[in-house]
Amino acid sequence: MSVSSVVTAGTRPPTSAGPARVEWLGVAALPSAVPVARYFTRALLGSWDAWEAHGWECQQVISELVSNALDATASDPDLATRAIAMILLRFQLSAEHLIIEVRDDSPASPQVGRAALLDEGGRGLLLAATLASSWGTYALTDGKVVWAAWELAPETP
Ligand SMILES: Nc1ncnc2c1ncn2[C@@H]1O[C@H](COP(=O)(O)OP(=O)(O)OP(=O)(O)O)[C@@H](O)[C@H]1O
Ligand SMILES: [Mg+2]
Repeated sequence: MSVSSVVTAGTRPPTSAGPARVEWLGVAALPSAVPVARYFTRALLGSWDAWEAHGWECQQVISELVSNALDATASDPDLATRAIAMILLRFQLSAEHLIIEVRDDSPASPQVGRAALLDEGGRGLLLAATLASSWGTYALTDGKVVWAAWELAPETP
């Protein structure tokens, strides 16, 4: 993250007392970002042995958040210059939480919709909010992060 990219406002994800595993995924802001993020989430949570707890919900939420990030990101890829906007994802798993964060370059804030019965869109964030234990967003000087978190049940001895 560049020096200019500092948090300016918003809600941060929960913190954990113990250590957390961390993994990153960077995807170009292209339609392929959404299935790539979905597949990566499946593979990562499987390798972390974290699929059973909230893996499916996490995969759906990633799908929604990356779709939104893509919609919000102006992207005009250029083969010669390799100019392309990026969407960055961070995954964290501790004993207490599974947290996903999706960063895009748009300064606009997500707005939970009030989709009417016949509206074709406007439900993604509401679904994500329902599937996660908590969610939020924090602004950066050159974009923002939308995150979702799941509280994990303590392991029984
Ligand atoms: N990452 C984002 N950056 C900027 N605006 C966002 C972002 N995510 C969501 N929004 C805003 O919040 C609105 C609601 O998002 P939501 O995902 O609920 O609905 P949608 O994307 O419009 O439709 P659907 O997800 O049902 O296909 C969006 O229309 C958009 O205006
Ligand atoms: Mg959406």
